[in-house]
Amino acid sequence: MTASGGPLDGRVAFITGAARGQGRAHAVRLAADGADIIAIDICAPVSDTITYPPATSEELAETVRAVESTGRKVLAREVDIRDLSALQQVVADGVEQFGRLDILVANAGVLSWGRLWEMSEEQWHTVIDVNLNGTWKTIRAALPAMIEAGNGGSVIIVSSSAGLKATPGNGHYSASKHGLTALTNGLALEAGEFGIRVNSIHPYSIDTPMVERDAMMEVFGKHPSFLHSFAPMPLHPVNHEGKKGLQEFMSPDEVADVVAWLAGDGSATLSGSQIAVDRGVMKY
Ligand SMILES: NC(=O)c1ccc[n+]([C@@H]2O[C@H](COP(=O)([O-])OP(=O)(O)OC[C@H]3O[C@@H](n4cnc5c(N)ncnc54)[C@H](O)[C@@H]3O)[C@@H](O)[C@H]2O)c1
Repeated sequence: MTASGGPLDGRVAFITGAARGQGRAHAVRLAADGADIIAIDICAPVSDTITYPPATSEELAETVRAVESTGRKVLAREVDIRDLSALQQVVADGVEQFGRLDILVANAGVLSWGRLWEMSEEQWHTVIDVNLNGTWKTIRAALPAMIEAGNGGSVIIVSSSAGLKATPGNGHYSASKHGLTALTNGLALEAGEFGIRVNSIHPYSIDTPMVERDAMMEVFGKHPSFLHSFAPMPLHPVNHEGKKGLQEFMSPDEVADVVAWLAGDGSATLSGSQIAVDRGVMKY
């Protein structure tokens, strides 16, 4: 399949955490809509405090194959979003190769579990350093290139339901994701004069390697009252196979539909918005 005549034709998107999960889905979806892609991922363990399997180089290579199968170009590199100069270098190389930068999807993030007064300093620092500091560094690297290109653009910050509400058992993650909500709204006001829109998405329960069912069950087993904050989704859509009923998780592709809409001109009036991707669960 070659993507031409798509809504993002001629545009360039920078996506962090693109080796797998939601980041890969966003890369492939934006490419299918016509964008060339700059895809980065750490492809290595982030810290001993992150207990689910790390992304691999092979997974990033699979993202490259999937993007190229749409007919678009991709620059992929193993970069840690905690490393500002490496981010600046990949943005510079991407702009040199593709000529411009229009879309940023700041998606890379990590999660761990524990009560706030029991977790280690390393656990706290890792989640804050990747999710909050790393996302700021991503913005720091990308925004000058977007402004320089002079075409306006769209920044999509991947927060979480935990960026809008309390999530007992991962308060450090919630603090980092609330930080991203503030970052989104401040940046929306600062970047608006350059025609750059900035919105955050707040997914709930997406089927990716980050979701460790055993770790969650252990936390809920020890602290059953925490379960109230992780309610089942009220909306039971008919899925693509025509099946009705509660689906515990949404797919990365469903989130990519929202990201593609935010990246494109159909959402031109939105900036500084928090988009819940939660099938209504946060209204409980
Ligand atoms: N899965 C969910 O239910 C859910 C819900 C709400 C929000 N989120 C958020 O969605 C985003 C994507 O997560 P996912 O669910 O696809 O999980 P995932 O673990 O599959 O993907 C995250 C990716 O980010 C990469 N990454 C982590 N730290 C990095 C770093 N320092 N530098 C570069 N890359 C790094 C990982 O290697 C991985 O490929 C995260 O920000 C996460 O917090 C996930």
